[in-house]
Amino acid sequence: MTVATRILFVDDEPAYCRIFSKRIGADPRFRVETAGSGAEALERLQHSPADIVITDLSMPLMDGIELLSEIKSLYPQIFILILTSDDSTSQVVKAMKAGAYDYLLKPFDFEMVERSIATILSHKAAVQAGLCPECLSGEQYCFENLIGQDRKMFEIYEMISQVAQTSATVLITGESGTGKELIASAIHAKSTRKDKPFIQINCAALTEGLISSELFGHEKGAFTGAVARKKGLFEQASGGTLFLDEIGDISPTTQVSLLRILELGTFQRVGGTETIKADVRLICATNRDLAAAAREKQFREDLYYRLNVVSLQAPPLRDRRSDIPLLVRYFLERYCSLNNKQIDGVTRDAMTLLCNYDWPGNCRELANIIEHAVIFSRGRTLDKDSLPSQIRTSDRHSSGLTLNLATATLADAESALIKKVLEESNWNLKKAAELLDIARGTLYGKMEKYHLTKPV
Ligand SMILES: Nc1ncnc2c1ncn2[C@@H]1O[C@H](COP(=O)(O)OP(=O)(O)OP(=O)(O)O)[C@@H](O)[C@H]1O
Ligand SMILES: [Mg+2]
Repeated sequence: MTVATRILFVDDEPAYCRIFSKRIGADPRFRVETAGSGAEALERLQHSPADIVITDLSMPLMDGIELLSEIKSLYPQIFILILTSDDSTSQVVKAMKAGAYDYLLKPFDFEMVERSIATILSHKAAVQAGLCPECLSGEQYCFENLIGQDRKMFEIYEMISQVAQTSATVLITGESGTGKELIASAIHAKSTRKDKPFIQINCAALTEGLISSELFGHEKGAFTGAVARKKGLFEQASGGTLFLDEIGDISPTTQVSLLRILELGTFQRVGGTETIKADVRLICATNRDLAAAAREKQFREDLYYRLNVVSLQAPPLRDRRSDIPLLVRYFLERYCSLNNKQIDGVTRDAMTLLCNYDWPGNCRELANIIEHAVIFSRGRTLDKDSLPSQIRTSDRHSSGLTLNLATATLADAESALIKKVLEESNWNLKKAAELLDIARGTLYGKMEKYHLTKPV
């Protein structure tokens, strides 16, 4: 029996909720719930999980983008579609950057809605096919050890699955720490070569003299110290995959030897005459701009084209910020279990800082920072004091306001306090929620309860 996809539809216009529910809810593949405001949507999600949230963009109090960011930080696994009647691209771009999966124009065309849902479901199925066993029961998306459910990552997963079926040479580019090595091993793991060796070598770490003998092997007596015949990596990886990391750093001589292998499919050991057939899939990675290096004649252009049969670009973390909460959770679990620590989560303030930082070192930097914080943290929650100064000072949203919440326990005091904070933060709801140290959804709920609205 297939489980129905749970959809939460959010719109302040009841008519839209009714129409949506009637039409999409009639399909047994879907279970539709509706909410008339952002606060109601967040309330509903607490009790009734959803796979997909479809939300209007312009709603009073909490708009679609605010709801989207709130859902992304609380339930990163949910897919979000934005509805907008305003085709001004700036709002749509903002929503997409905040992690919306796609957007739909209002008044909506049901065929479009169904197509978007179908795309999400097929992406989900593609990921599920590559899910790590330990993630099958979890809510997070893990494709062969790669974490992320931003659209850019789905595109990478799809390319990995496609290219894995072939023996084509793959060039993976991307900044340092973006997961190039994980992508390479995912290609191997999904390919028919998976039971054969996956051998990797960091080309930058080998001297000019060593690299040829490492790659191609040598015959006994080929050079001083070659006391016996040695198989090179091309032979060791036979039938499997050879991953040449930092390929941008190989010397012109090695570039010629590699080109030869790629053109002829054969090689010879150093000092040998026997021609050996190379049965390996080659995957190369670099954080250099190899195309530019080829244009500037720093890297052989012919080799560049041979290596770049299929190219995969690992996106920088700042271009998929919506994955940050997911990665934080993942690294937190990983380092807690490695270090025997019990930490349940990250405070809202700390998560905001983590989501706003630009991550020049990408996932590796995030992993290191969480590991450091886990090791040195004494409490059950990571707060912003456990983050290094470069992250704390990158806070774009802090304000100098400090509050004593000790008196804010009674309803009237609470209402007065919220009103004061809203005024002091110029009715910037995000800032007010941060100052009050409550979730934005809670703030909206309380504003509704105490009838607090921005004066016009
Ligand atoms: N999508 C991801 N999900 C989970 N962990 C990731 C992801 N991307 C990178 N990492 C983690 O970040 C670290 C760096 O990843 P990796 O070595 O694959 O990056 P790289 O692009 O090869 O970096 P470099 O260019 O410096 O060699 C590793 O600890 C890896 O587990
Ligand atoms: Mg690497």
